This record gives sequence, structure tokens and C-alpha cells, in this order.
Amino acid sequence: MSIKVLVFDFDGTIVDSNELKDKAYFELFPLADKKTKEIIREISKGSRKTRYQIIKEILLALKFENIEKETENHVQKYGEVVEKDIVDSGGVPNAFEGLWFFHNNKYILYLLSGTPLEPLSQVVEKLVAKGKIPAFKKIYGRVDNSDERLFKEQVITEIIKTEGVSTKEIALIGDGPSERDVALKTGCIFIGISNESNNWKTNNDFPVITDFKELQSLINPPLFLIKNMKKEKQLRKEILNKVREFYQARKQKEKFIPGESYINYSGRVYDEKEMINLVDASLDFWLTADRYAKQFENDFAKFLGIKYCLLTNSGSSANLLAISALTSPELGKKRLKPGDEIITVACGFPTTLNPIIQNNLIPVFIDIELGTYNIQVEKIEKAISKKTKAIFVAHTLGNPINLDKILKIVKKYNLWLIEDNCDALGSKYKGQYTGSFGHISTCSFFPAHHITMGEGGAVLTDDLKLKKIIASFRDWGRDCWCEPGHDNTCKKRFSRKSGKLPFGYDHKYIYSHIGYNLKITDMQAAIGIAQLEKLPLFIKKRKENFKEIYKFLKLYENYFVLPQAEKDSQPCWFGFPILVKPEAPFSRNEIVNYLEDNKIATRMLFGGNLIKQPAYENTKYRIFGSLKNTDLIMNNLFWLGVYSGITKEKLNYLTKVFNKFFKEKL
Ligand SMILES: Cc1ncc(COP(=O)(O)O)c(C=O)c1O
Repeated sequence: MSIKVLVFDFDGTIVDSNELKDKAYFELFPLADKKTKEIIREISKGSRKTRYQIIKEILLALKFENIEKETENHVQKYGEVVEKDIVDSGGVPNAFEGLWFFHNNKYILYLLSGTPLEPLSQVVEKLVAKGKIPAFKKIYGRVDNSDERLFKEQVITEIIKTEGVSTKEIALIGDGPSERDVALKTGCIFIGISNESNNWKTNNDFPVITDFKELQSLINPPLFLIKNMKKEKQLRKEILNKVREFYQARKQKEKFIPGESYINYSGRVYDEKEMINLVDASLDFWLTADRYAKQFENDFAKFLGIKYCLLTNSGSSANLLAISALTSPELGKKRLKPGDEIITVACGFPTTLNPIIQNNLIPVFIDIELGTYNIQVEKIEKAISKKTKAIFVAHTLGNPINLDKILKIVKKYNLWLIEDNCDALGSKYKGQYTGSFGHISTCSFFPAHHITMGEGGAVLTDDLKLKKIIASFRDWGRDCWCEPGHDNTCKKRFSRKSGKLPFGYDHKYIYSHIGYNLKITDMQAAIGIAQLEKLPLFIKKRKENFKEIYKFLKLYENYFVLPQAEKDSQPCWFGFPILVKPEAPFSRNEIVNYLEDNKIATRMLFGGNLIKQPAYENTKYRIFGSLKNTDLIMNNLFWLGVYSGITKEKLNYLTKVFNKFFKEKL
């Protein structure tokens, strides 16, 4: 889970600790260009001044209007409380509290102050309006001299409520026992700032930083560069407005002409939001995974009701990661070893099968049912041998497998269950999203799928250990879990002993798995964020289109086996499978050619019977029973699209073409 809200409360630190003083001022103070640094340094030199004095001097030095009046008001109104507060904090003037900002597009800043800050907040708002400092969310000031801990708890509770975040998404950064207690009590993450009075350097209960740069590596917000912000912000706005215009211009050209326009089986459905996000991410120019990727992982996991989501560059990579992760020595006896058997089907997409073979495991093929096109569940138990360790199947074309029965078998024989959910996003089994039943599940964001990032995929799990292993395989096999561009998140970068490496070998270059690099870029994730918003609508449209086609093809049921949803399931179909009955007076190829000639896209059920493909000629596998139905779908099945790009007029045209085919053929 990523941190979304930072709450700062470290006033005393700044004047307590000489070591930190400069760093704190200059790394976090948003106006820290060279001139400002000099001003602040000068004013705060050996300072024992009150907060009021220092703020006033700084703001005056920076030539903000009406400052004197504002600050006079501040003193008049709260003067006594300010003085009292200074005494409360050990006699140290906690200068600058309420003036610290840490904000970028992703992180929201809340300032927490023990002192009433109403006039000060007005000053700060003016600075924001002038573009001198980044926007911030809110300043909290204690209005009376009420209990400090209670006040802070109340603030955290309010943040949770207004931001819709969980406690684990809030980091409270502080230097005193009161902040630590508040973090403990509310359950939010605590990051301590070491100073001379708390002596937290040796405390291991929570991360302690001595340098604000370390904060960056702990929570990964790139430091906000205020200097060029105004210009950049303006330019970004102009560029994104142009993107909006560009999208409108493109949209105006789109028109469906029956018989001329191709009706695709699937495709990208997007508007200006995807384009804007893509350009926005590219302007960040971080390039590799960053703010959009984190947000997507978080939001997508939430959508499916799973704890962890790890983005990767394709659904195929997601499958490879899922199986590879299960070979990790960290899983002890439960790890998959070469020669272990994995139950699957031969009818489907090759990259569900490939990771099994690539990891020197043996696929055991079971036939599928006609109508549902899913694994014949009643055969699974009989197919299990001593070597069977997992079941890895896809929800065929979005139709959920019989999870009740499969989960019982998984439990009984202590097997792993991996769901290839690439074609089934939005499908439910007994009201719960598919992809949330197995130990691991995978998704694809290729343009044909329910939502797209161009290329992209995700691995999902509820298990923290599996999550760490999957991340390791995805990120070169490394042991280290620092975000790109960050160091020493674990605080033990040079103090570990691993394998036969010398003690202290850089953790950044310690590898605990034979991994890959299957990471995603932030540009892809940015598109995904806009798509995720549309997902509920996409799901609805797919279901509606499926229903329409079903209603119409019911007329021709004598010739076709129509799709059948698995019992207790609510599929969000990837496509509409049509099996031409062997006794029909036309072949699958005849109708497919007719449809394609009339500009209607068709697809086969991927690889048909995969073991008949040239790639698998020399592969080791076991077949349980026969693959009669698998062969039948290879010869007789095709499918049509149901995605939301298929509009009513396209459906009308499709019906006409089918009717024409039957008129001509029968
Ligand atoms: C069931 C299934 N699994 C995996 C994949 C692979 O996904 P990707 O194309 O993102 O690699 C696909 C692709 O369509 C698929 O249909």
C-alpha cells in the first residue's frame, strides 16, 4: 500500500538539532532558492526567537504585502497562546511550524500545528495564490489550549474521512513521543526524525531519519522543485488543453459506415482523459513506474478486493511471474520444483501454458466442457498424482470456472490455485470478483482486454510473502525493494550478509531469485488510471452486448452451441463464443469467411488445442482422458466481440449480415 498523505509535525527538531537545522530548512522549505536560503540562514542564525518573529522576518524579507498587519493580528489574537506553546515545547521556539510544505501532484500536505494559525493560514493562502508555494490542503491549528495528543488524533481521523484513505496510507512524520503515540493509537505509519533530545537513532521500532533526503527514499515523493513550478505548471496546462482539443478533432472523424467500417472484436475505448494522463505522465519524464503506477496498483487492488497488486508489462509476464514466484526457495516445501505437475487445459492462450513449461514443470491437460469452455471439474481429482502441486487455468473468455468445486479440491490436496483472469475482469462468482479467489491471479491490459494500457498486466495476491517474491522476480530477481531512483529504504544497505557474498555487500545488488525485468512505465499506468474509471461502464456494456447477441442468435440455435455461463456466476464476457454444430450445413470456416468479408471481425479460441501447435511438438506433458472437446472447439468454434465499442448500429448491422448468411446458405 502506498502512502498518500504526509503529516508533518517536527517543529522542535529544527532548532534543537544543529545537524538537522540547515537540512530541514533548505530541503523542505519550498522557497529555497539561493537568495531565500541566505535570508533564512541569516534570520535564523543561532536563533532563540519566537515563531512569530521568525515568520514575520522571513515574510518581510521576501516582500509579501500586508505581512506586518497579518502578523500583528496574529500576535494580538493569539499572542499569549503562542508564548504558552513555546513553554509547552520545552522552551524552544518551534519556529516555522505551520510553514512546511511537502506537496506534489500525488501527496497531499496537511500542516499540523499546536498553535492557532488562522492569520498565518491566510498569509500562506496568499503565497499559494501568487504561485510562490505549491497548493496545500489544509492547516490545522489548535484553537485552544486543549490536549495535544487528542487534537492530533482528531486531525488524523478527519484526514481519513475527508481523503477516503486508510490509516496505512498516512505517514506521520514527527520528532516527539506525542506524535509517536498518536501514530500508534490511530494505526498510521510513523517516521521518526532523530534529534538531540529524543535520541532515536538507535530505536528500531519505527524508521528513523536523520536527513530529510532519507524521507524521500522511504516514501518516494520526488522533491518538489518550486523554482520552475509556475512556468512548468502553466505550460503543462496549455499542453494538456491542446491534447483535449486534439482528441475532439480526432473524434469528429469517427463514423460508422455499414459494410465499409470494420467492426472489430475488441479495441481501445478512450477519450481525452487517457490521452491527457499519458501526456501528463510523459511530461513528468520519470519514465519508469511512479505516481500513476502506485495509484493504479492501489485502486485496482481495492476494486477487486485484493490486498496487493503488482503491475507488469503484459498479461503474459503476469502469468510468468505467478508461476515463477511459486518456485521460490522462500516457500520451503510448498515451492514448485522441476517435474512437478500443474493441472491446466490445452484450450486457450499459449502464455497461460508457457510459464509451466518455462519453469520445467509438467502440464497435465484436462478436457473442457462445451458451452462453458472451462475445465471439466469432475475430472480434476482423478487426474491428481503425487506430483500435482497446482491448478492454473483461465476463466475462458470471461466465464468463471466452477470455483466452489475447485477451491474444495485445492484445499483437500493442498494445491496452489492461480487464476488467469486476463479475459475475465469484472466477472463475478457468487457475487465476488474473479481474480480474488486464487493464491495468485493475473490480468492483462492489452487493447483487446476489458481495460487497456496499450501493453500491461498485473499480478494480484493477498499474501505478503508472495507479493515480495513476485516483486523480486519482476525486478531482476533482486532482494532490495527500493523504488526506482531510491536507495537504502531498508536502512541496512551496507550491513547484510547474504549467500557467500562478503558482509556489507550493497543490498541494491543482492539477488535472491533468478529474475527478469518485467516492469511497467508510468505512461502505461497513467492510461490505466483513466480506464479504471470507465471500467464499471465497460462491464455494463459488455454484458448488455452479450445479451443482445444471445437474444438474436437464439434463433439459430439449431446450428450453434450457444455460450453458457457457469452456475452461480455473473460473467463479464471477453467475447461471444459460437460453436458451429458438427451437423450444421455449413462449416466454421465458411461462416467466419462470410463475416470477415462483410467487415465483421472474428476470432478463434486462441490456440485451439495448444498441443497441436508446432511450438509444443517436443514438450513434456500428460493428458488425462481425451481432449475430444478441445479438438472440437479447435475445428468448430469462433467468437465475436462484445466490447463497448460495439454500438447499437453495429449490432444492427451484425444481425443483418447473419440473417443474410442464413438466407443465402439454407
Ligand atoms: C487468457 C489469457 N491469458 C494471458 C494473455 C496474455 O496477455 P498479454 O497479451 O497482455 O500478454 C491473454 C491474451 O489475450 C489471454 O487471453
